[in-house]
Amino acid sequence: MNIDTGAGPGPFAADLHAALGRSPKAISPKYFYDEAGSRLFERICELPEYYPTRTELALLRAHAAGMAARFGGRVQLVEYGAGALRKVRLLLDALPCDGVQFVPVDISGPHLLAACDALAGDYPDLALQPLVADFTRPHTLPPCAPGARRVGFFPGSSIGNFTPAEADAFLRLAAGELRGGGLLIGIDLVKDPGLLHAAYNDAAGVTAAFNLNLLERARRELGAEFPAGGFAHLAFYNPAYRRIEMHLRATRPLELRLGGEVYPFHEGETLHTEHSHKYTVAGFQALAARAGFKPGQVWTDPNRWFAVLWLEAPGG
Ligand code: AVI
Repeated sequence: MNIDTGAGPGPFAADLHAALGRSPKAISPKYFYDEAGSRLFERICELPEYYPTRTELALLRAHAAGMAARFGGRVQLVEYGAGALRKVRLLLDALPCDGVQFVPVDISGPHLLAACDALAGDYPDLALQPLVADFTRPHTLPPCAPGARRVGFFPGSSIGNFTPAEADAFLRLAAGELRGGGLLIGIDLVKDPGLLHAAYNDAAGVTAAFNLNLLERARRELGAEFPAGGFAHLAFYNPAYRRIEMHLRATRPLELRLGGEVYPFHEGETLHTEHSHKYTVAGFQALAARAGFKPGQVWTDPNRWFAVLWLEAPGG
């Protein structure tokens, strides 16, 4: 995933001060994704315990033609939070090669442009119009070619990392800009908590390193000081909210120093770093319907671990 990396001293420093000053302490997961964090996330996607990436890829491989058939003939395909542009290739391969306009939207210009260069090499006839923007905020998409429908693509269950209010706001914004087209979205489904626990507590410790990298990043970029081994990875399923919560837990009473401020932690106190909501198909369709979508076809794996949903955006 590529969302706002908050690169530079500005937003990360200010947001980390705010995070450490509130009770309970909590920060946006967007700060995971500096270069080291993005590399660790790529490794998470390959872990035997982390089923979402390979399950969604298998769904896209098996059903790309059926998904593309929902889009219609001429299409402006908008990928939200474009990242490495790996999954969209499966859709592009299933679409007629002429008449596809592809608009990957990502906050990180250098990442987006590098991914687009690679894509343009492999799809020389594709009308590629990258947009550097925060897709969760109002932005202006390029106009659709005459007769084309606008279709959104939001894979990876990234919407699970939004709060319910953020998910609602994003879906409303998308329903507005995709009016007359639709949205293809990947969601991680509610399942056996044991499987969820394993996916976020892998044996190789990659998810732990990914979580701990947030504070290592603060040390590298902002000169934050805290004792070595002072924090540990904590990830658990919270059934009341149907979400995995990730925290950094103080292993003993300690102080974290940042830019002249001192933030005490008592033993066991945590900095909440991420939630990853799990949905039922019906629950997500209801959320999408409230935001203005009309639920359509659903593709899911035999275990029903992950689903890709087609949502029509009426009007236009
Ligand atoms: C990017 N996002 C959908 C991942 C997830 O599963 O919530 C991030 C992640 N966090 C820990 N492992 C993976």
